[in-house]
Amino acid sequence: MDINKVFHILEHAVTKRQHPWHEMVLATADGTIPDLRRVVLRGFDLDKREIVFHTDIRSPKISILRRNPRAAILFYDPIDKLQLRLPVDTRIHHQDEVTERSWQKTRPFSKICYAVAHPPGTPIPEPNPDNTVGEWDPADDARAYGNFAVIACQFAMIDILQLQHGGHQRWRAEWHTPKWTVETIQA
Ligand SMILES: Cc1cc2nc3c(=O)[nH]c(=O)nc-3n(C[C@H](O)[C@H](O)[C@H](O)COP(=O)(O)O)c2cc1C
Repeated sequence: MDINKVFHILEHAVTKRQHPWHEMVLATADGTIPDLRRVVLRGFDLDKREIVFHTDIRSPKISILRRNPRAAILFYDPIDKLQLRLPVDTRIHHQDEVTERSWQKTRPFSKICYAVAHPPGTPIPEPNPDNTVGEWDPADDARAYGNFAVIACQFAMIDILQLQHGGHQRWRAEWHTPKWTVETIQA
């Protein structure tokens, strides 16, 4: 297994919106309570060994990650039948140079999500005029930016599974400074 091939696909998936790895599943553990949700892959930095997603600082996952920054990420490509599982250490960025850079690159269509009045997951009256997503109003920029968070997920291990007729293949890639080592394991 050439681990660089996996890294290349991840890099490509950041900007390729149709790629199955453009979305991933993020698993958290709040004490003994596991939870999962899908998030969009917004960045991949091989030097920092980081996978990045964006979220609302008010969302429940933020409180969970503050209590327990250990999380896990799952990617699956049903065409290439390739699965990645990564245990990660998360770092929350809020109103720092990382969020500033990302916010500048965020399109108005995506910025709208951070301008909603009510924190994600809170009960809201229905019908709720505050909750309709209309045109992006630049006057909302500062308020929306205040809700914007960038989560950097650092990884040092990847479990790679390739489904295959005639025998699945599986590898464990581990970072041992200064390089990745890959061993073949039973699928
Ligand atoms: C395809 C898809 C992509 C999503 N992307 C994101 C994302 O990038 N960031 C995010 O916070 N939520 C995203 N969501 C919503 C989350 O899955 C989740 O419902 C929301 O963030 C609330 O999660 P929480 O209650 O664990 O905080 C996405 C959902 C779907 C179905």
